[in-house]
Amino acid sequence: MAQTYIKDIAAHDGQTITIKGWLHNRRSSGKLHFLIVRDGTGQVQGVMSKAAVGDETFRKADHLGQESSIIVSGAVRADARAPGGYELDVSGFEVVSEAVDYPITPKEHGVDYLMDRRHLWIRAPRQAAILRVRHEVINAVRDFFNSRDFILADTPIFTPAACEGTTTLFPVQYFEDTTAYLTQSGQLYNEATAMALGRVYAFGPTFRAEKSKTRRHLTEFWMVEPEMAYATIDDVMDLSEQLVSSVVARVLDKRMNELKQLERDTTKLESVTTPFPRISYDEAVTRLQGAGLPFEWGGDLGGTDETVLSSQFDRPVMVHRYPAAVKAFYMKPDAERPELALGVDVLAPEGYGEIIGGGERLADLDLMLARIKAHELPPEAFEWYLDLRRFGSVPHGGFGMGIERVVSWICGLEHLREAIPFPRMLYRMYP
Ligand code: 4AD
Ligand code: MG
Repeated sequence: MAQTYIKDIAAHDGQTITIKGWLHNRRSSGKLHFLIVRDGTGQVQGVMSKAAVGDETFRKADHLGQESSIIVSGAVRADARAPGGYELDVSGFEVVSEAVDYPITPKEHGVDYLMDRRHLWIRAPRQAAILRVRHEVINAVRDFFNSRDFILADTPIFTPAACEGTTTLFPVQYFEDTTAYLTQSGQLYNEATAMALGRVYAFGPTFRAEKSKTRRHLTEFWMVEPEMAYATIDDVMDLSEQLVSSVVARVLDKRMNELKQLERDTTKLESVTTPFPRISYDEAVTRLQGAGLPFEWGGDLGGTDETVLSSQFDRPVMVHRYPAAVKAFYMKPDAERPELALGVDVLAPEGYGEIIGGGERLADLDLMLARIKAHELPPEAFEWYLDLRRFGSVPHGGFGMGIERVVSWICGLEHLREAIPFPRMLYRMYP
């Protein structure tokens, strides 16, 4: 019989269907087995009675372990008390492969135990719900840019030089005598493709050899990076708030079930509409000091600073015009106050910190040469980048949005490690 997916079960009320999945849980009482079956799209309870299936089939389910793979047929019956609104009256039952002593039981396990078994942990309903939200976030991002005529232009992962500072580079042996670095950001290449195509985006994995062991840092994460020719920092802020609000709206629209399963307070997400507040770094400093933090003008915002600042708003807040000294070499200085860089960070509410970093790029050749020197970057690796300033340079800008940060915020997670199927962190590369 053709397979039906549990998510579509409502369309089959009264019909006999076949579900191919796994046994998530089983309860038995005398002549009845209650089988919680999952198939990757959802869960449904199958009620198997000895009278309906006969002794032999009934016995097959008697001691069957959690996560055994099974094929179950039965009639769909509406039941207001069932979590999904439907149950299955089981008439057919086949064990595809028996699982014995599945290591992740419904009882509590420690995080390290679960992370060592991440390949199995992702089968847990909560983890699967997070990964479905991640899928929705990624598709929302793609649809957002595609519907606005941005061109997807991929950027390389092997790169000859740093984009976001030399301290967080992963070196890779590139044949006999060359060192390549895993990309920290596609931005520099985006600047080239933007000069060719106008408005572009790159979307892929990026790498940071960050020795920080915080809940906000992965060593491998996914970033979407738009870049626009003839754009200013204000255009960058406009695009940022449009992207973030549209991604949140899409998840609220399509993944309410998952958010409920995650017990997310969705009213907090419903207020994420444009316009987002825009405050200067100067104002951020005043606010931090006003909140009693020992923050001094000139420093970068730390995790606590971001949390305190963002808690003052009910939606993401954009902080712009940071001291140039704490920002990357490629940022354009503010014409009125050259000690400031035309960069902007978007901080998510509820203590989730920075989800977007970007700004307007330095378009001037001589100043760029001076910056590369001052940051002690290898000039030969940047010759091609300087060409962008030699041949038809224009004002331009863009940003990078970290997918796991956004998923983590939207799902209300405590740690980024649950926002990606197989996280890579300072002390973890397995499984
Ligand atoms: O602020 P970042 O470092 O900016 C850039 O890389 C720019 N070149 C992007 C651009 O303008 N095209 O990183 C951008 C975003 C951060 O706001 C954060 O969401 C995410 O990438 N991010 C991380 N996510 C997880 N783990 C890490 N270690 C991250 N570092 C940055
Ligand atoms: Mg940043």
